Amino acid sequence: MTVLKGSQSVRMDEAGAQTRLTACNDHRDRLRPVSARFVLRERTRPMHDATEDAFAPYDLTRPEHYRCFLVAHASALPRLELGVTGKGWDRWHPRLPRLVDDLAALSIPLPVSMLAPDISPVAAWGVQYVLEGSRLGGRLLAQTVPHGLPTRYLAPDPDTSARWQAFCVALDAHNRGDEWLDEVVDAATETFQTFRRAALALAGDLP
Ligand code: HEM
Repeated sequence: MTVLKGSQSVRMDEAGAQTRLTACNDHRDRLRPVSARFVLRERTRPMHDATEDAFAPYDLTRPEHYRCFLVAHASALPRLELGVTGKGWDRWHPRLPRLVDDLAALSIPLPVSMLAPDISPVAAWGVQYVLEGSRLGGRLLAQTVPHGLPTRYLAPDPDTSARWQAFCVALDAHNRGDEWLDEVVDAATETFQTFRRAALALAGDLP
């Protein structure tokens, strides 16, 4: 299992209850577990940044840009969601139905789905980390979409934060150590790549 040396002080956040990363008072060289979520966040941060950069040209205050944004997500999402259905987190559920509703409300046909690799039961945790985490950024993005446009996909549920905490707790409970985590990180990285590629592909259609 991935560990930190004992006397470090690490910021707690919403998933912090699962892991105890506070400073070690007696300064003994105790080893403490690090939340799998923190490992994922740190190791995939460059990919999150790159994905965010790829979506940066999409100005969601402009309806045409918002349409392209939805199409980009709709080309990345279906195979990923299909690939993790019935695996990983037992509370996971797809967002594609909401995205399809938004597209239908805007009379946009469902785009061809990008390919996704076979997703193992372990890799499913990495894919779900990205899919669940994207709901966090989504709630900020939803606020920028002009009133009157459908935002079922981006709009947060009242329990978004609680779900995220629950997912992080489940991730830790299933963590089987370094090899397990490496596979999860690889899957998360590949999932970010899928969204990044979709963003880059559709950016050419932006007016
Ligand atoms: C389009 C531009 C994007 C912006 C501006 C953005 C912004 C953010 C923000 C502000 C957070 C932190 C939210 C919080 O802690 O409450 C976040 C977290 C996250 N986002 Fe994004 N995001 C973007 C795109 C994406 C995409 C496309 C994905 C994946 C498909 C994604 C995956 C994640 C994940 C996994 C986290 C959780 C990281 C962690 O704390 O462990 N983001 N994002």
